[in-house]
Amino acid sequence: MIKVGRQSFSLKIMALLLVVLVMFGTAIILQTRVIMNNLFTDQQVKRGISIATMLAARASNHILVNNYYDLHELVKDTQASNDDVKYAFVVSNDGELLAHSFPGGFPVDLLTANTLPAQAKHNIAELNTEEGVIRDIAVPIFDGRLGVVHVGLSDGSLRATLGNTTRQLLFDTLAAIFVGLVLTIFLASRITKPIRELARVTGAITAGDFTQRAYVKSNDEMGSLASAFNVMADYLHRLMTELKQKEEARTHLLQKVIVAQEEERKRIARELHDETGQTLSSLMIGLKSLAESCPSSSHECRVEEMRAVAKTALGEIHRLAVELRPSILDDMGLIPALEKYVADFRAAHGLDVDLHVSWGSDNRVPHEIEVTVYRIVQEALNNIAKYAKAENVSVIVTRDDRGLEAIVEDDGIGFDADEIMLDNESNKLGLHGMRERASLAGGTFTIESSTGHGTTIYVRIPLTGGESGGEG
Ligand SMILES: Nc1ncnc2c1ncn2[C@@H]1O[C@H](COP(=O)(O)OP(=O)(O)OP(=O)(O)O)[C@@H](O)[C@H]1O
Ligand SMILES: [Mg+2]
Repeated sequence: MIKVGRQSFSLKIMALLLVVLVMFGTAIILQTRVIMNNLFTDQQVKRGISIATMLAARASNHILVNNYYDLHELVKDTQASNDDVKYAFVVSNDGELLAHSFPGGFPVDLLTANTLPAQAKHNIAELNTEEGVIRDIAVPIFDGRLGVVHVGLSDGSLRATLGNTTRQLLFDTLAAIFVGLVLTIFLASRITKPIRELARVTGAITAGDFTQRAYVKSNDEMGSLASAFNVMADYLHRLMTELKQKEEARTHLLQKVIVAQEEERKRIARELHDETGQTLSSLMIGLKSLAESCPSSSHECRVEEMRAVAKTALGEIHRLAVELRPSILDDMGLIPALEKYVADFRAAHGLDVDLHVSWGSDNRVPHEIEVTVYRIVQEALNNIAKYAKAENVSVIVTRDDRGLEAIVEDDGIGFDADEIMLDNESNKLGLHGMRERASLAGGTFTIESSTGHGTTIYVRIPLTGGESGGEG
C-alpha cells in the first residue's frame, strides 16, 4: 500500500504529520516546563517566606528570654517538618549565629550569602550548591531588631516534578504520534484509493486496454474526476476504434494498390517483351533480308543504319521490361533477381556494388515478401545512383529462422533522413514507399543517414507462416 521507493502520497502525508506532531509535542513540553518552573518557584518562594516568617515570630520569644536551647529545637523542628527545607538558622542583629539545623557543623559562608537590606521584609538569594539550587530566604525578627531568620529551600522536588511531568508529556506525545500515524495510514489509504484506481486504469489504457474504467463510488471531487475520466476513456475508445478501422481500410487499400501496380507492371512488361519486342525482332529480320538484296556499294540504301536503330530500340524495350518487372523474380526468386539487378546496375552506373547473400535455406520465401524486398533494394539503389555520389555500395541480404533482412549501405553524401520521413506532404515517394511496403509485409524499415556520412537502409521482415515456393 505504501510505496516507500516512489514516495507515495500516503508517505508524504505521514511525514508531514510526523513533523507537525513532533514540533507540536516539543513546543508543548518546553512551554509546560517553563510555566511549571515559574509557578513552582513562585509557590516555593511564598511558602519559604511563610515558613521563615513563622519561624521569626516564634524565635523572637526565645531570643528575648535568651532560651537558645528551645530556639535550637525550634529551628531543627522547622527543618525536619518541611521536606524541601534543607536548613534553617538564626543570626542575631549583630551577626552572631544563634541556632542552626546543620547536624555536622555550620558552613560559615552562609552567614554572608544572603544579606537582608535594612527595612526589607524579606530577601531571597539563589545559591548553587552540590545538591542543586537552594533558595535562601531571609526574614527579619522583630523588624530586624532581634536578628534574622534564614530558611534554605531546595529545588530538588521542583526538578523531580518537572522531570516526571516531562516524561509524562513525552509519553503522551509519542502515544499521540503513534495514534496519529495509524490514523493517517488508514485515512491516506482511503483518500488515495481513488487516485490509485485512476492510475491503474490510466496505465491499462496506455497499454492499449480501452475497456478498463475507473470504479470510484464517492460523491465528492474524486467521484466527479473518475466520471469525467471514464467519459474521456469512452471517447478515446471510440476514437481508437475508428482510427483502427480507418487504418485497416487504408492498409487494405494500399495492399490492393500495390498488388494492382505490380500486376500492371507485369502486364506491361509482358506486352513489351512479347508484342513490341517480337514486332521489332520481325522488323530486324526483314531489314536483314533487305540488306542482303541491297548492293553494298549503294549509298542510297541505309538499311544497316535502320537495323542498328531497331536493335537499340529492342535493347531499350528489353531494359524497360526488366525494370518494370523482371520475369526472373517470378520464376527463380529474390536472390537470382537481385544478382541480375545488381550486375545490370553496376554496368549501367559504373559503381562498385557488393552483394552479400546469406540464405540459410534452399526454399523461397512468400512471393509478396520477395517482391517487397526486391522493390526496396531497387529504390535504394536508384536513390544511390541519383543522389549519393557514393564510391562503394553494399547490399546484404540475410535470411535466418526469424526472418529476412536486407541492408543497403553507401558511403555517399548522406542526407537528413528524419526531415524527409516526417514530411508526409512531400511528393518524394521513394523512401515513404519503402516504409509502407515493409510495414504491409509486417516488417520494419529504418534509415540511418547524416550529411557527409553515407546512408544505410535496414529492412527486416519476419517469416511467420509456412514457406512458399512460388507465386504469391
Ligand atoms: N542514398 C542516398 N544518398 C543521399 N541522399 C539520398 C539518398 N536516398 C535518398 N536521398 C535523399 O532523399 C530524398 C528522398 O528520396 P525519395 O526516394 O523518397 O524521393 P526521390 O528519389 O527524390 O523521388 P522518387 O523516389 O519519388 O522518384 C532524395 O531527394 C534525396 O535528397
Ligand atoms: Mg527515390
